Amino acid sequence: MQIGKICLRHGLILAPMAGYTDHATRAVSHACGAEYTVTEMVSAKAICYGDRKTPVLARIFPEDGPCAVQIFGSDPEYMAEAAVRLSEGMAGGEKPAAVDINAGCPVPKVTGNQEGSALMRAPGQLYRIVQAICTRIKIPVTVKIRAGWDDAHRNAPEVARAAEAGGASAVAVHGRTRDAMYAGHADWAIIGAVKKAVSIPVIGNGDVTDVASALLLLRESGADGIMIGRGALGNPYIFREIGAALEGRPVVPATPEELYSMACRQLMLRAAEKGEASAVRESRKLLAWYLRGFPTASAARARIYAAESLSEMQAALAVLLQKDAWKDAAPRAF
Ligand SMILES: Cc1cc2nc3c(=O)[nH]c(=O)nc-3n(C[C@H](O)[C@H](O)[C@H](O)COP(=O)(O)O)c2cc1C
Repeated sequence: MQIGKICLRHGLILAPMAGYTDHATRAVSHACGAEYTVTEMVSAKAICYGDRKTPVLARIFPEDGPCAVQIFGSDPEYMAEAAVRLSEGMAGGEKPAAVDINAGCPVPKVTGNQEGSALMRAPGQLYRIVQAICTRIKIPVTVKIRAGWDDAHRNAPEVARAAEAGGASAVAVHGRTRDAMYAGHADWAIIGAVKKAVSIPVIGNGDVTDVASALLLLRESGADGIMIGRGALGNPYIFREIGAALEGRPVVPATPEELYSMACRQLMLRAAEKGEASAVRESRKLLAWYLRGFPTASAARARIYAAESLSEMQAALAVLLQKDAWKDAAPRAF
């Protein structure tokens, strides 16, 4: 599939996740086969008002691979102005591959300002936002939407058509409504309905946790690509596994050594970008995902949360290298 001129062989994309998909997470995901990544969402108004912390969230490094910057907001003028500034690269970082519009965030603080998934209730406004941005920047503009606002309004196809009419180059669909938040199962059929409604590439998202669910999403929806969020946390190799399956090659799960070394790499990349204290603090919840499914996870997780330095964090992660820790490990899925 293509996003503008960017060609993605399998359309394997790391989903944006606020508080999780910083440079370190994006870089290890790309190293493990994610063909495209997205920053955490940043506020268009914060960019326009010159907030000091926000540009760092949108800073992109070459190791992130092709990386889109995601913005949220509701005012076409602010969104377009923020997109112009972001398209030049932030905080000394690379220029983004695309600007992605958040039309999926369910948090009341965001939807209360008619931003995020509130745009699912205002396709006309989304159209104006996409159009305003497209007239100001040359890189592709994409939109990430949900199935709808609630079960009575599952209007993703209509919203995707509005995005396409405004000039969007691709649309990603999380198959849950705003009301569902993250509960229940994502509806991949609505992704299929969007695919039938538009001619731009459609990226399916929601509940892909392994090769089997990735292939099922593609079969049930006909999507052009797959966006993976939580399933990639603690297992960035999910992208390599899905890529192998799509190429008809054997799927080789990550070894304990590979997982350990990727977890450590993530930690070190974060430290290089943000310094040791921030890296240790921010890595606690992130690295705990690597221990998912382990019988000894709770003790190791406690060590991760207690770690005060990079070396203590690495020592806690070393449980991944203990052969007997894997003996009774549960399958690495949710
Ligand atoms: C902690 C967390 C933070 C998220 N932050 C964002 C965000 O900043 N922008 C966005 O579009 N979606 C965000 N999402 C939604 C994910 O991109 C994705 O749509 C959702 O998790 C479903 O995909 P998954 O089942 O593969 O995780 C977030 C999800 C989680 C769990």
